[in-house]
Amino acid sequence: MRTLIKHALAATEPRDFIQLGGWVRTRRDSKDFSFLELNDGSCFASIQVVADAGIPGYEQIADFTTGSSAVVEGSLVASPAAGQKWEVKARNIRLIGTADATYPLQKKGHTLEFLRTIAHLRPRSNLFGAVFRMRSKLALAVHEFFQSRDFVYVQTPIITASDCEGAGEMFRVTTLKGNIDEQPTTDFFGKKAYLTVSGQLEGETFACALSNIYTFGPTFRAENSNTARHAAEFWMIEPEMAFCDLQGDMDLAEEFIKSLAKYALEHCAEDLGFFAKFVDKGLPERLKFVVERPFVRVPYTEAVDILTKSGKKFEFSVVYGQNLQSEHERFLTEEHFKSPTTVFNYPRDIKPFYMRVNDDGKTVTAMDVLVPGIGEVIGGAQREERPDVLVEQMKHHNLNPADYWWYADLRKYGTVPHAGFGLGFERLIMFLTAVSNIRDVIPFARTPGNAEF
Ligand code: 4AD
Ligand code: MG
Repeated sequence: MRTLIKHALAATEPRDFIQLGGWVRTRRDSKDFSFLELNDGSCFASIQVVADAGIPGYEQIADFTTGSSAVVEGSLVASPAAGQKWEVKARNIRLIGTADATYPLQKKGHTLEFLRTIAHLRPRSNLFGAVFRMRSKLALAVHEFFQSRDFVYVQTPIITASDCEGAGEMFRVTTLKGNIDEQPTTDFFGKKAYLTVSGQLEGETFACALSNIYTFGPTFRAENSNTARHAAEFWMIEPEMAFCDLQGDMDLAEEFIKSLAKYALEHCAEDLGFFAKFVDKGLPERLKFVVERPFVRVPYTEAVDILTKSGKKFEFSVVYGQNLQSEHERFLTEEHFKSPTTVFNYPRDIKPFYMRVNDDGKTVTAMDVLVPGIGEVIGGAQREERPDVLVEQMKHHNLNPADYWWYADLRKYGTVPHAGFGLGFERLIMFLTAVSNIRDVIPFARTPGNAEF
């Protein structure tokens, strides 16, 4: 049976027989033997294979080019070379598929922009191998975080008829031809349907039955914003807790981010080491800081005050009552507080209908967690649990309460204070890897004008 290179490299003693498969990174030929660097993506490191001239398969050695695939059998022996514990002394080498000189990943030094044009091959590069191994580990960490606290994992629907965020940024799902707005009742679902922007509303129904729940799935937004932090398809994790207020919500958000940073430090050391070396030297220190220090919490009004008094020239001016722009968020977290920062109690008009109205009647119990280098990673709120205020909020936001009858029912039958948030999984991975463009932390990015692969 084939052994993963990760497992071979972690061996505690030599092995007389081992079979490995992988892709050739480099080959160096001497008179009587060749060195092959074989990588199978199971870990960052490649393994060195020493193939003597004359062993079975060696007659094809010229075709073991960079990018070709091979299976190697031999013994795992201590390596005399510096920086590697083990190497393989090959007994036979088998070329599976060669790669000709057009293989785009010859050597190193490609730009991220170029690698995006070969998204089908970039997982074979060092950076993308590290990103996607870490993404996989962090997905497990998300489940462990919630499961260990007895949150129930709920798979909310991807196709929905309600606009949770009320921002009208939804992709339509239809089987109609021609004018799709003419007779929506004849459409597949008998009404207009969309790809979901958030599983929150459905998630709330489960929290109002099972107490603490979370979702973890794809969400879609037809936002035409070509930025480094927006994708049209991204993954969101949305916990929702019954009998919970804004304070408890902010506590959970903070604990969650800390726990994921801790997990990365403890379980992804090799890949983190690569990011620290080639992407951002300060990364490990920053993650330790995140784990150890409490986040700053500041009400929106105070944040606006800080921004207006900062004397800093922003592209967009800071106006009370308007949304914070990314540059404002980054100023707060990167320059002013120099810490992850939770901003809470935003003006009612700029936040969705479901957030609980504060006693001042002007603000809602919203909270956004901002982190250095990214800005917002989490958006959440305590939900409006009072039936009459909820209906008023819907009207205030120009929504038809009849469309949200089932959501309002949660307030009619045994209503409870409850709260939750959404964490953008890609943004979190950007934060934990220091990779600065969302297109490079998702396997195949969906952005305006781009759905190749
Ligand atoms: O702040 P948002 O819009 O909040 C919600 O969707 C709520 N329903 C969540 C809840 O309370 N259950 O989105 C939550 C997070 C953002 O903070 C951001 O990290 C991420 O989702 N996000 C995006 N990530 C990538 N591309 C986009 N276009 C994103 N839009 C939001
Ligand atoms: Mg938000």
